Amino acid sequence: MNAKQAAGYRAAEWVKDGMTVGLGTGSTAYYAIEKIGERVGNGLRIRAIATSNASEELAKKYQIPLIQAGDVDMLDLAIDGADEVDPQMALIKGGGGALLREKLVAINSDRFIVIADQGKMVSNLGRFKLPIELVPFCYEWTLRELKSRYDVPFELRMQGDQLYVTDNGNYIVDAAFGQIADPARLSEELKAMTGIVEHGLFVGIAQTVVIGYEDGRTEIKE
Ligand code: A5P
Repeated sequence: MNAKQAAGYRAAEWVKDGMTVGLGTGSTAYYAIEKIGERVGNGLRIRAIATSNASEELAKKYQIPLIQAGDVDMLDLAIDGADEVDPQMALIKGGGGALLREKLVAINSDRFIVIADQGKMVSNLGRFKLPIELVPFCYEWTLRELKSRYDVPFELRMQGDQLYVTDNGNYIVDAAFGQIADPARLSEELKAMTGIVEHGLFVGIAQTVVIGYEDGRTEIKE
């Protein structure tokens, strides 16, 4: 068992009969969905919302019943990976491009559990490039504004020779902040900019972190 699998499988234990569950995106969330899917196969009754088309396909493969947001007021639980986790449980997410749906699902869940291998734990956020999702309309002006405010390298995410397009039809620019001294402040600043749909800083959202180690051990932080 590898570290991601250990974290994903451990978090799946939080899922109980009758719950509504948010399914994350990425290679760690994959294992959580796999384990939840196995349990559904053994009779666990839950309903779920997926944070990406890829995770939705995986949920369908395991016959996890899917619902729409209109079917439920709040989710009981969401489980998702992260690219970086700091000691206050602030996160950078969005390496896989699903940050908008991931944040919507996380903030509308009674409990948000982050699953991460040990390598994701950092003392300061920012070494991982911060994904920022932009509305395609006039995105060049949004990028110009970002560059004028922050003197850091910005890189439009590409897929081959085309701009990468999210499941929501938007673009992503990855910002190399290096070290983010005040994640809460940066989060508010970015959120306030016209043209930015969402960004990958998740501050004050996670209640639990499940850390996976290469030897298969897990550690819980709350
Ligand atoms: C997807 O958009 C991301 O937020 C992922 O949750 C994050 O990139 C972690 O992915 P891995 O589990 O694949 O490292």
